[in-house]
Amino acid sequence: MKIILAPMEGVVDYAMRELLTASGHYDLCITEFVRVVDQVYRPAFFRKICPELDHGGKTRSGTPVRVQLLGQHADWMAENAAVAAHLGSRGVDINFGCPAKTVNRHRGGAVLLQEPETLYKIVKAIRQAVPGHQPVSAKMRLGYATADLALDCAHAIKSGGANMLTVHARTKIEGYKPPAHWHIIDDIRRHINIPVVANGDIWSRADAEKCRRLSGCEDIMIGRGALCLPNLVSVIKVNAAPMPWKEACALLISYACFTRPSQQRGYLPSRIKQWFSYLKRHYPEAHILFEKIKRLRQLDEIIAMIRKEA
Ligand SMILES: Cc1cc2nc3c(=O)[nH]c(=O)nc-3n(C[C@H](O)[C@H](O)[C@H](O)COP(=O)(O)O)c2cc1C
Repeated sequence: MKIILAPMEGVVDYAMRELLTASGHYDLCITEFVRVVDQVYRPAFFRKICPELDHGGKTRSGTPVRVQLLGQHADWMAENAAVAAHLGSRGVDINFGCPAKTVNRHRGGAVLLQEPETLYKIVKAIRQAVPGHQPVSAKMRLGYATADLALDCAHAIKSGGANMLTVHARTKIEGYKPPAHWHIIDDIRRHINIPVVANGDIWSRADAEKCRRLSGCEDIMIGRGALCLPNLVSVIKVNAAPMPWKEACALLISYACFTRPSQQRGYLPSRIKQWFSYLKRHYPEAHILFEKIKRLRQLDEIIAMIRKEA
Protein backbone atom coordinates (compact mmCIF):
# COMPACT_ATOMS: atom_id res chain seq x y z
CA MET A 1 0.00 0.00 0.00
CA LYS A 2 1.21 3.49 -0.86
CA ILE A 3 0.07 6.50 1.16
CA ILE A 4 0.17 9.97 -0.37
CA LEU A 5 0.04 13.19 1.65
CA ALA A 6 -2.75 15.29 0.11
CA PRO A 7 -2.17 18.72 -1.34
CA MET A 8 -3.82 21.33 0.89
CA GLU A 9 -3.54 24.92 -0.19
CA GLY A 10 -2.84 27.23 2.73
CA VAL A 11 -2.23 24.30 5.08
CA VAL A 12 0.29 21.73 3.88
CA ASP A 13 3.30 23.87 3.12
CA TYR A 14 6.99 22.99 3.02
CA ALA A 15 7.38 22.92 6.80
CA MET A 16 4.29 20.76 7.25
CA ARG A 17 5.54 18.32 4.63
CA GLU A 18 8.91 18.10 6.38
CA LEU A 19 7.34 17.35 9.75
CA LEU A 20 4.64 14.96 8.61
CA THR A 21 6.94 12.93 6.37
CA ALA A 22 9.70 12.55 9.00
CA SER A 23 8.52 9.02 9.83
CA GLY A 24 9.40 7.96 6.30
CA HIS A 25 6.02 6.28 5.89
CA TYR A 26 4.62 8.54 3.18
CA ASP A 27 5.35 7.50 -0.39
CA LEU A 28 4.65 10.83 -2.05
CA CYS A 29 3.60 14.42 -1.28
CA ILE A 30 1.76 16.75 -3.64
CA THR A 31 2.33 20.49 -3.26
CA GLU A 32 -0.33 23.14 -2.82
CA PHE A 33 -1.63 24.04 -6.28
CA VAL A 34 0.12 26.52 -8.53
CA ARG A 35 -2.56 28.48 -10.35
CA VAL A 36 -1.75 28.85 -14.02
CA VAL A 37 -3.55 31.52 -16.02
CA ASP A 38 -1.54 33.00 -18.86
CA GLN A 39 2.08 33.04 -17.86
CA VAL A 40 5.07 30.82 -17.27
CA TYR A 41 6.31 31.11 -13.72
CA ARG A 42 9.97 31.64 -13.00
CA PRO A 43 11.95 28.90 -11.29
CA ALA A 44 12.12 31.04 -8.13
CA PHE A 45 8.33 30.88 -7.84
CA PHE A 46 8.29 27.09 -8.07
CA ARG A 47 11.12 26.90 -5.54
CA LYS A 48 9.12 29.03 -3.13
CA ILE A 49 6.12 26.68 -3.31
CA CYS A 50 8.38 23.64 -3.35
CA PRO A 51 11.78 24.30 -1.72
CA GLU A 52 12.39 20.54 -1.96
CA LEU A 53 13.27 21.18 -5.64
CA ASP A 54 16.68 22.27 -4.38
CA HIS A 55 17.07 18.94 -2.58
CA GLY A 56 16.46 16.49 -5.38
CA GLY A 57 12.68 16.89 -5.19
CA LYS A 58 12.51 15.11 -1.84
CA THR A 59 11.83 15.99 1.77
CA ARG A 60 14.68 15.42 4.23
CA SER A 61 13.28 11.99 5.02
CA GLY A 62 13.51 11.13 1.32
CA THR A 63 9.81 11.39 0.42
CA PRO A 64 9.34 12.51 -3.21
CA VAL A 65 7.44 15.74 -3.75
CA ARG A 66 5.36 16.50 -6.84
CA VAL A 67 4.28 19.97 -7.95
CA GLN A 68 0.56 20.42 -8.62
CA LEU A 69 -0.79 22.74 -11.31
CA LEU A 70 -4.29 24.13 -11.68
CA GLY A 71 -5.61 25.86 -14.77
CA GLN A 72 -7.65 25.55 -17.93
CA HIS A 73 -5.29 26.45 -20.77
CA ALA A 74 -3.51 23.35 -21.99
CA ASP A 75 -0.60 25.29 -23.49
CA TRP A 76 0.18 27.40 -20.43
CA MET A 77 -0.26 24.36 -18.20
CA ALA A 78 2.17 22.41 -20.37
CA GLU A 79 4.80 25.15 -20.35
CA ASN A 80 4.67 25.42 -16.57
CA ALA A 81 4.74 21.65 -16.24
CA ALA A 82 7.93 21.59 -18.28
CA VAL A 83 9.56 24.11 -15.94
CA ALA A 84 8.53 22.19 -12.82
CA ALA A 85 9.78 18.94 -14.31
CA HIS A 86 13.05 20.54 -15.38
CA LEU A 87 13.57 21.83 -11.83
CA GLY A 88 13.31 18.28 -10.54
CA SER A 89 9.69 17.91 -9.44
CA ARG A 90 8.97 14.22 -8.97
CA GLY A 91 6.39 14.32 -11.73
CA VAL A 92 3.56 16.79 -12.23
CA ASP A 93 0.06 16.56 -10.75
CA ILE A 94 -3.00 18.29 -12.20
CA ASN A 95 -5.81 19.64 -10.05
CA PHE A 96 -9.28 18.86 -11.43
CA GLY A 97 -10.96 18.93 -8.04
CA CYS A 98 -10.74 22.41 -6.52
CA PRO A 99 -14.22 23.61 -5.54
CA ALA A 100 -13.27 27.24 -4.78
CA LYS A 101 -15.65 29.75 -6.36
CA THR A 102 -12.95 32.13 -7.61
CA VAL A 103 -11.03 29.27 -9.20
CA ASN A 104 -14.14 27.71 -10.77
CA ARG A 105 -15.36 31.08 -12.08
CA HIS A 106 -12.17 31.25 -14.12
CA ARG A 107 -12.74 27.72 -15.37
CA GLY A 108 -10.18 26.00 -13.20
CA GLY A 109 -10.47 23.01 -10.86
CA ALA A 110 -13.68 21.01 -10.47
CA VAL A 111 -15.67 23.03 -13.00
CA LEU A 112 -13.67 21.29 -15.74
CA LEU A 113 -15.23 17.98 -14.73
CA GLN A 114 -18.13 19.06 -16.95
CA GLU A 115 -15.79 19.01 -19.96
CA PRO A 116 -13.96 15.68 -20.33
CA GLU A 117 -12.53 16.85 -23.66
CA THR A 118 -10.77 19.76 -21.91
CA LEU A 119 -9.35 17.38 -19.32
CA TYR A 120 -8.00 15.23 -22.11
CA LYS A 121 -6.34 18.21 -23.84
CA ILE A 122 -4.69 19.45 -20.66
CA VAL A 123 -3.36 16.04 -19.65
CA LYS A 124 -2.12 15.32 -23.16
CA ALA A 125 -0.32 18.66 -23.48
CA ILE A 126 1.33 18.17 -20.09
CA ARG A 127 2.27 14.58 -20.85
CA GLN A 128 3.96 15.74 -24.04
CA ALA A 129 5.83 18.53 -22.23
CA VAL A 130 7.14 16.38 -19.38
CA PRO A 131 9.96 13.88 -19.98
CA GLY A 132 8.68 10.32 -20.15
CA HIS A 133 10.44 9.15 -16.99
CA GLN A 134 8.59 11.75 -14.89
CA PRO A 135 5.03 10.71 -14.04
CA VAL A 136 2.01 12.84 -14.79
CA SER A 137 -0.91 12.38 -12.42
CA ALA A 138 -4.28 14.02 -11.91
CA LYS A 139 -6.69 14.49 -9.05
CA MET A 140 -10.42 14.68 -9.62
CA ARG A 141 -13.66 14.71 -7.72
CA LEU A 142 -16.57 12.48 -8.81
CA GLY A 143 -18.03 15.32 -10.82
CA TYR A 144 -19.38 18.84 -10.57
CA ALA A 145 -23.06 18.53 -9.63
CA THR A 146 -23.44 14.78 -10.13
CA ALA A 147 -21.17 11.80 -10.71
CA ASP A 148 -22.67 11.15 -14.16
CA LEU A 149 -19.50 12.08 -16.03
CA ALA A 150 -17.07 10.43 -13.59
CA LEU A 151 -16.14 7.58 -15.93
CA ASP A 152 -15.85 9.91 -18.94
CA CYS A 153 -13.54 12.20 -16.97
CA ALA A 154 -11.40 9.33 -15.71
CA HIS A 155 -11.21 7.93 -19.23
CA ALA A 156 -10.21 11.33 -20.64
CA ILE A 157 -7.47 11.68 -18.04
CA LYS A 158 -6.17 8.21 -18.75
CA SER A 159 -6.33 8.69 -22.53
CA GLY A 160 -4.41 11.94 -22.22
CA GLY A 161 -1.56 9.87 -20.85
CA ALA A 162 -1.79 10.23 -17.06
CA ASN A 163 0.13 7.58 -15.11
CA MET A 164 -2.03 7.80 -11.98
CA LEU A 165 -5.40 9.20 -10.93
CA THR A 166 -6.46 10.21 -7.44
CA VAL A 167 -10.20 10.38 -6.83
CA HIS A 168 -11.68 12.46 -4.01
CA ALA A 169 -14.95 10.59 -3.67
CA ARG A 170 -17.37 13.52 -3.65
CA THR A 171 -18.80 15.92 -6.21
CA LYS A 172 -17.92 19.61 -6.17
CA ILE A 173 -21.41 20.43 -4.89
CA GLU A 174 -20.95 18.06 -1.96
CA GLY A 175 -17.92 20.06 -0.82
CA TYR A 176 -16.55 18.23 2.20
CA LYS A 177 -19.88 16.87 3.42
CA PRO A 178 -19.63 13.27 4.61
CA PRO A 179 -19.84 10.57 3.49
CA ALA A 180 -17.21 10.10 0.80
CA HIS A 181 -18.58 7.63 -1.77
CA TRP A 182 -15.69 5.18 -1.81
CA HIS A 183 -17.66 2.55 -3.74
CA ILE A 184 -17.91 4.87 -6.77
CA ILE A 185 -14.11 4.94 -6.93
CA ASP A 186 -14.37 1.19 -7.52
CA ASP A 187 -16.39 1.81 -10.71
CA ILE A 188 -13.74 4.26 -11.91
CA ARG A 189 -10.89 1.92 -11.00
CA ARG A 190 -12.45 -0.92 -12.99
CA HIS A 191 -12.93 1.38 -15.98
CA ILE A 192 -9.32 2.53 -16.47
CA ASN A 193 -6.08 0.61 -16.42
CA ILE A 194 -3.85 3.03 -14.52
CA PRO A 195 -3.37 3.08 -10.73
CA VAL A 196 -6.23 4.81 -8.95
CA VAL A 197 -5.69 6.32 -5.50
CA ALA A 198 -8.67 6.63 -3.15
CA ASN A 199 -9.18 9.84 -1.20
CA GLY A 200 -11.71 11.41 1.14
CA ASP A 201 -12.63 11.06 4.80
CA ILE A 202 -9.90 8.69 5.93
CA TRP A 203 -9.51 9.64 9.61
CA SER A 204 -8.36 6.34 11.12
CA ARG A 205 -6.83 2.95 10.40
CA ALA A 206 -10.32 1.46 10.27
CA ASP A 207 -11.39 4.07 7.70
CA ALA A 208 -8.33 3.27 5.58
CA GLU A 209 -9.20 -0.43 5.62
CA LYS A 210 -12.83 0.21 4.75
CA CYS A 211 -11.95 2.68 2.02
CA ARG A 212 -9.51 0.25 0.43
CA ARG A 213 -12.08 -2.55 0.60
CA LEU A 214 -14.94 -0.53 -0.91
CA SER A 215 -12.85 1.25 -3.55
CA GLY A 216 -10.73 -1.77 -4.41
CA CYS A 217 -7.74 0.61 -4.41
CA GLU A 218 -4.38 -0.47 -3.15
CA ASP A 219 -3.27 3.10 -2.48
CA ILE A 220 -4.78 5.99 -0.56
CA MET A 221 -4.30 9.72 -0.08
CA ILE A 222 -4.85 11.38 3.30
CA GLY A 223 -5.34 15.07 3.99
CA ARG A 224 -7.28 16.47 6.93
CA GLY A 225 -6.89 13.24 8.89
CA ALA A 226 -3.12 13.61 8.67
CA LEU A 227 -3.35 17.01 10.35
CA CYS A 228 -5.77 15.87 13.05
CA LEU A 229 -3.54 12.97 14.03
CA PRO A 230 -0.03 13.81 12.83
CA ASN A 231 1.16 10.19 12.76
CA LEU A 232 -1.96 8.81 11.04
CA VAL A 233 0.28 7.54 8.23
CA SER A 234 2.19 5.31 10.69
CA VAL A 235 -1.02 4.27 12.43
CA ILE A 236 -2.33 3.05 9.09
CA LYS A 237 0.87 1.61 7.68
CA VAL A 238 2.53 -0.07 10.65
CA ASN A 239 -0.22 -0.02 13.27
CA ALA A 240 1.68 2.52 15.39
CA ALA A 241 0.00 3.90 18.51
CA PRO A 242 -1.68 7.26 17.95
CA MET A 243 0.68 10.14 18.75
CA PRO A 244 0.25 11.34 22.36
CA TRP A 245 -0.78 14.97 22.92
CA LYS A 246 2.62 15.98 24.30
CA GLU A 247 4.33 14.83 21.11
CA ALA A 248 1.79 16.71 19.03
CA CYS A 249 2.70 19.85 21.05
CA ALA A 250 6.40 19.25 20.37
CA LEU A 251 5.55 19.02 16.67
CA LEU A 252 3.62 22.28 16.85
CA ILE A 253 6.70 23.94 18.33
CA SER A 254 8.93 22.49 15.60
CA TYR A 255 6.47 23.82 13.04
CA ALA A 256 6.52 27.25 14.64
CA CYS A 257 10.33 27.32 14.68
CA PHE A 258 10.80 26.04 11.16
CA THR A 259 12.86 28.36 8.98
CA ARG A 260 11.05 29.21 5.81
CA PRO A 261 12.42 30.78 2.65
CA SER A 262 10.05 33.70 2.99
CA GLN A 263 7.99 34.52 6.00
CA GLN A 264 5.49 37.32 6.21
CA ARG A 265 4.45 38.78 9.51
CA GLY A 266 1.44 37.01 10.94
CA TYR A 267 1.90 34.00 8.68
CA LEU A 268 2.97 31.59 11.37
CA PRO A 269 0.51 32.57 14.12
CA SER A 270 -2.37 32.11 11.70
CA ARG A 271 -1.04 28.81 10.35
CA ILE A 272 -0.56 27.48 13.89
CA LYS A 273 -4.09 28.47 14.84
CA GLN A 274 -5.35 26.82 11.68
CA TRP A 275 -3.57 23.58 12.59
CA PHE A 276 -5.34 23.69 15.95
CA SER A 277 -8.67 23.56 14.15
CA TYR A 278 -7.63 20.12 12.89
CA LEU A 279 -5.92 18.93 16.09
CA LYS A 280 -9.12 19.67 18.02
CA ARG A 281 -10.81 16.83 16.17
CA HIS A 282 -8.48 14.25 17.70
CA TYR A 283 -7.18 15.80 20.95
CA PRO A 284 -9.58 17.13 23.61
CA GLU A 285 -6.56 18.99 25.09
CA ALA A 286 -6.28 21.04 21.89
CA HIS A 287 -9.61 22.76 22.66
CA ILE A 288 -8.29 24.03 26.00
CA LEU A 289 -4.92 25.13 24.65
CA PHE A 290 -6.53 26.85 21.68
CA GLU A 291 -8.60 29.00 24.03
CA LYS A 292 -5.33 30.18 25.58
CA ILE A 293 -3.61 31.09 22.31
CA LYS A 294 -6.43 32.23 20.09
CA ARG A 295 -6.03 35.95 20.87
CA LEU A 296 -2.23 35.94 20.96
CA ARG A 297 -0.61 37.71 18.02
CA GLN A 298 3.08 37.25 18.74
CA LEU A 299 4.72 34.01 17.71
CA ASP A 300 6.92 33.96 20.85
CA GLU A 301 3.89 34.17 23.12
CA ILE A 302 2.18 31.35 21.27
CA ILE A 303 5.26 29.13 21.42
CA ALA A 304 5.71 29.84 25.15
CA MET A 305 2.11 28.82 25.79
CA ILE A 306 2.47 25.58 23.81
CA ARG A 307 5.78 24.82 25.54
CA LYS A 308 3.99 24.71 28.86
CA GLU A 309 2.04 21.69 27.56
CA ALA A 310 4.87 19.87 25.80
C1 LIG B 1 -7.86 23.59 3.22
C2 LIG B 1 -7.82 22.64 2.07
C3 LIG B 1 -6.99 22.90 0.99
C4 LIG B 1 -6.94 22.02 -0.11
N1 LIG B 1 -6.09 22.31 -1.15
C5 LIG B 1 -6.01 21.44 -2.20
C6 LIG B 1 -5.09 21.66 -3.27
O1 LIG B 1 -4.32 22.63 -3.29
N2 LIG B 1 -5.07 20.75 -4.29
C7 LIG B 1 -5.90 19.65 -4.31
O2 LIG B 1 -5.85 18.85 -5.25
N3 LIG B 1 -6.74 19.40 -3.29
C8 LIG B 1 -6.81 20.26 -2.25
N4 LIG B 1 -7.65 19.98 -1.20
C9 LIG B 1 -8.40 18.70 -1.18
C10 LIG B 1 -7.59 17.64 -0.44
O3 LIG B 1 -6.39 17.34 -1.11
C11 LIG B 1 -8.41 16.33 -0.28
O4 LIG B 1 -8.77 15.87 -1.56
C12 LIG B 1 -9.67 16.53 0.54
O5 LIG B 1 -9.40 17.26 1.72
C13 LIG B 1 -10.30 15.17 0.92
O6 LIG B 1 -9.36 14.37 1.59
P1 LIG B 1 -9.34 14.25 3.21
O7 LIG B 1 -10.74 13.87 3.64
O8 LIG B 1 -8.31 13.20 3.50
O9 LIG B 1 -8.97 15.60 3.74
C14 LIG B 1 -7.73 20.84 -0.12
C15 LIG B 1 -8.55 20.58 0.99
C16 LIG B 1 -8.61 21.44 2.06
C17 LIG B 1 -9.51 21.11 3.24
